[in-house]
This record gives sequence, structure tokens and C-alpha cells, in this order.
Amino acid sequence: MKFFVDTADIADIKDLASTGLLDGVTTNPSLIAKSGRDFLEVVAEICAAVAGPVSAEVTALDAETMLKEGRKLAKIAKNIAVKVPLTWDGLKACKVLTGEGTMVNVTLCFSANQALLAAKVGATFISPFIGRLDDINLDGMELIHEIRTIYDNYEFSTEILAASIRTANHVKEAAMVGADVATVPPAVLRGLASHPLTDKGLEQFLADWKKTGQKIL
Ligand code: G3P
Repeated sequence: MKFFVDTADIADIKDLASTGLLDGVTTNPSLIAKSGRDFLEVVAEICAAVAGPVSAEVTALDAETMLKEGRKLAKIAKNIAVKVPLTWDGLKACKVLTGEGTMVNVTLCFSANQALLAAKVGATFISPFIGRLDDINLDGMELIHEIRTIYDNYEFSTEILAASIRTANHVKEAAMVGADVATVPPAVLRGLASHPLTDKGLEQFLADWKKTGQKIL
């Protein structure tokens, strides 16, 4: 499973990239607003900091303007994935942009039928939002499972990018049902390495080591 980080915080991105665990970055207009940075400037910086795909979202609602925005974003760097919403116009824009060789991430996906349409217009990534479905008492993970089945049935190459991930359990379950990518907030990504028994075990080992009076260096 690939890990993308869902943030526009450049310090976090650089820190996580240095682990070698980061395969890409996703942003959205809310994350750009949170960063307080200029959109085009921060996206260019992110693209330079990571080798993998960096999703940058259009804000137009009509296909024609989405295309203009998407083409402008695609010029920033080779690793841009233009993010378009899962609307009729977004699907039209996706078809054209992927035809031009640009990676496209179709976002705000909440149903398997929406994901089917995105795959049919050649989306590079489909972003089903797990947490936001759970928020309204629906089953976000079931959606990932449904999309996996449909994509496998028809051998679609669109990658399932599990989004709106809120917990470590979301990451594990998305991996178990076969999501290709998880986009994860920095704190959740770092939290995947934590376990209280690791901390407890380490504390015990170091206490015992101290008793030996030895040093490695
Ligand atoms: O980038 C899209 C998605 O990951 C948003 O997550 O937590 O705002 O629902 P969230």
C-alpha cells in the first residue's frame, strides 16, 4: 500500500519524506486555507520535496474552467495530479486531462457508482472519503470494498486512494480490503509506528542495559 500525506504543511511533508515512507501528497482547498500559504507557491514547493504524485485541486465548477485551471496546475511540475470533484463536469474534465497525459485524482467520491464513472473516464486515482461516510453513520470501509470488487471485475487500472482517514484502524482496514493508497493526516501516519508495548519493552531493555554498565559507542 502506498502512503500519501494529506496536508499542505511543508515542514511535515519534508520530515515524513525523509523516512522514505512517503509516496505522495494530497491537498484540498481546506488544507491550503489552513496552511495560510499561496496555493501555487506551496504546491510547487511540495512537488519539489517529494517525488510521487501531489494532488492539487481545481476550484471551478464547470468543465471548461476546470480544464484551464487543471492545465495551469499541471504546468507546475511533472508530479502534479489534478484533483477534480466527482461531478458531471469533473468527469468531463478528467477525460480530457488524462487524455493529455496529466494524472487526475477524482475526489469527493461517496458511492461505488461514482467510482465506476471515474474509472471509465480514465481517472488515475479515485478518492472515496471514509471518515465523512462514517460521520453520517454509513460504512466508509464498505465503500472501499465495493470499489475494489468493481475495479477488479473489470480490470480498471484506476488506483483506489482511501481518503478522509481519521484513525490507524482506518489505515489497517483499508489495507485489508485492498485500497491501493491511503492518504493520511501527518499525526495518524506517525501514530502507525506507536504501540504501548513497544514503549514499555524499550524502557525495560534500557533499564537492564544500564545495569550492565556497558556502552556501544
Ligand atoms: O483530502 C480529502 C480528505 O482526506 C479529507 O479528509 O478528514 O477532511 O474528511 P477529512
